Amino acid sequence: MAARILAEGGLVGMPTETVYGLAADATNGEAVARIFEAKGRPLFNPLIAHVASLDMASQEGRLDSAALKLAERFWPGPLTLVVPAARTCSVSDLAQAGLPTLALRWPAHPVAESLIRAFGKPIAAPSANRSGRISTTDAASVADELGSAVDLILDGGACPVGVESTIIGWQDGRMTLLRPGGIAIEAIEEVAGAEAFRLTTDHLEASGIVAPGMLASHYAPEARLHLGCTNLSEAEAILAFGALPKNIRKDARIGQLSEKGDLREAAANLFRMLRWLDSGNPKSIHAMPVPDCGLGLAICDRLKRAAAPR
Ligand code: TXA
Ligand code: MG
Repeated sequence: MAARILAEGGLVGMPTETVYGLAADATNGEAVARIFEAKGRPLFNPLIAHVASLDMASQEGRLDSAALKLAERFWPGPLTLVVPAARTCSVSDLAQAGLPTLALRWPAHPVAESLIRAFGKPIAAPSANRSGRISTTDAASVADELGSAVDLILDGGACPVGVESTIIGWQDGRMTLLRPGGIAIEAIEEVAGAEAFRLTTDHLEASGIVAPGMLASHYAPEARLHLGCTNLSEAEAILAFGALPKNIRKDARIGQLSEKGDLREAAANLFRMLRWLDSGNPKSIHAMPVPDCGLGLAICDRLKRAAAPR
């Protein structure tokens, strides 16, 4: 049924291992336009084309040996590769936002993979949230965010990774980290045998490549978010990581990312806990410090953007 809705130009809420995606036929410009409309997303923001085989990926993008090496090691999985579009690329210009490059990902989720296979063409899917807001990691949150704008939501339960894919591109042959995500950059560098260039927002603006997940304010809750908080005595809502300090308000709402300080568990809980804390309508949310190594880099990245002034 979901594949038929896609073929008819409709939108489907699709679970992946990272976050839920708002899926449409990547080759159908009108269907892709509906994604932008439903999300309130700026049109200059390109979408990831989701595939379910290396053949399908190579049809759409030109994977050189460096890209292939990462694809073979990490696909299916939370890695997106930005490569030059192939001559045979079928993805609509709108999904590519007119860029000569294409973002490709093979998600490691049985529901996403079977949907892509049943549909037989690449699926464009940004995170299933309104633009700039917290990403969704369960089907009920997709319904809350997008409501009637989506034709069908496939309920695949909670997303096991919980933060979006790591995005890697190449600029002048240099491997570049465009967005930290579900695969630690250290693991990618080890397989690539090279260090990744860490792109900053300044570089992005100068290069004209707009990776909106890289915009200063993104993933934002309604409440103000304060980072790296160690004094929590006045906090009404706490995004906790590790053991809580003794001195906190009795009525504080506590969203625990990982009591034992496990970054993988924290990533999987991040967006759900932020949503839940925000749903209590606090004035502000105080987040405890999270280390910025391994998966912590993606967590800190999302928290920094969620805390940025809007
Ligand atoms: O885990 C994920 O990647 C999720 C799931 C649904 O697959 N998708 C996701 O999509 O996070 P989205 O649209 O929220 O983020 C995709 C990011 C955007 O920041 C976009 O700007 C960037 O990828 N992007 C897409 N195509 C690009 C390109 N050709 N060059 C540079 N950045 C690109
Ligand atoms: Mg997003």
